[in-house]
Amino acid sequence: MVLCGAVALGPAAPAAAQGALNLTCSVQVEWCQAAATNFTRDTGIRVNMTQRGSGEALAAIRAEAQNPRTDVWFGGTGDPHLAAAEENLTQAYESPNSAALQPWAQAQWQQSGGRAIGIYAGAIGFGINTELLARKGITPPACWADLTEARFAGEIQVANPASSGTAYVVIATLVQLMGEDEAFGYLRRLHANVNSYARSGTGPIKAVARGETGLSISFVHDAVTERNAGFPVAWATPCEGTGYEIGSMSIIRGARNLAQARRFYDWALTAPAQRLGFEAGGQLQTPSNRDAPLPPGAPDLTKIRLIDYDFARYGRSAERRRLIERWEREVGARPR
Ligand code: F6P
Repeated sequence: MVLCGAVALGPAAPAAAQGALNLTCSVQVEWCQAAATNFTRDTGIRVNMTQRGSGEALAAIRAEAQNPRTDVWFGGTGDPHLAAAEENLTQAYESPNSAALQPWAQAQWQQSGGRAIGIYAGAIGFGINTELLARKGITPPACWADLTEARFAGEIQVANPASSGTAYVVIATLVQLMGEDEAFGYLRRLHANVNSYARSGTGPIKAVARGETGLSISFVHDAVTERNAGFPVAWATPCEGTGYEIGSMSIIRGARNLAQARRFYDWALTAPAQRLGFEAGGQLQTPSNRDAPLPPGAPDLTKIRLIDYDFARYGRSAERRRLIERWEREVGARPR
């Protein structure tokens, strides 16, 4: 978790007069910091930012429900935002800027009863350290089925679904592709090839970049970010098809700074704010504002074989909890 104090004032308005915003941020910290700094510059509103993974953010928001310390939850996979909406942890808001968004981003808003909205999208795939695999003479994977083969023993990293929204999307994707019992059988076989379960969704691709592991299951936009930073990283999406996220934003029920929260929400839906992910943070998700271009080099989701991910089902609070508990019991707890 990264804590960041009040962001420096912009030259425009006296911040004290504009108040403050408490932001929980579930994208990578570079983007979180850029969002906070630029929002303060544009509005004079001070930002206290805390960065947490999607699952950890949901747990904190749940624990603080009677006395919320967060006003806006920005980013992170869509399923836990839907669970938060269902648990009445967030509140509905209709932004004047939502008409500029892609249909999938507006669908997230409809689905959640107006409590969550899509800010970006991204697909699950494989992150590959090309140098490491070549040195070991391992052919990179093309399909989910490849990952359980003996050649990947001890070579794979993925995140833990209790803390990471990415890892939950992986499980929900496999369940949708294979059926639940088959998917858990697959996850048990995969477990034998996994060297560690990271806390955050981007942990495994950073380990790939550093050459600590040959392969990760990650959002493919994060693999491109590492390659752009100069690491020998490639990505692929599974031949059987793959799942995706609608990265989301929600206003917390009982937010102490509601006016500032709505101001941030409106701001975060604009094209200039959405371009910040790439411009300031090197992030390569597909932005939800139709006027924000796909960043150069970003994976083009229209060219990836995506499943028809059932957000209504896998965003349900009880379903999410049940699948994570089953994973902990039948997979995470097993010796390797
Ligand atoms: O910020 C990169 C990213 O991959 C986002 O696209 C995604 O919403 C988030 O990380 C998920 O992080 P975690 O798996 O730690 O919840």
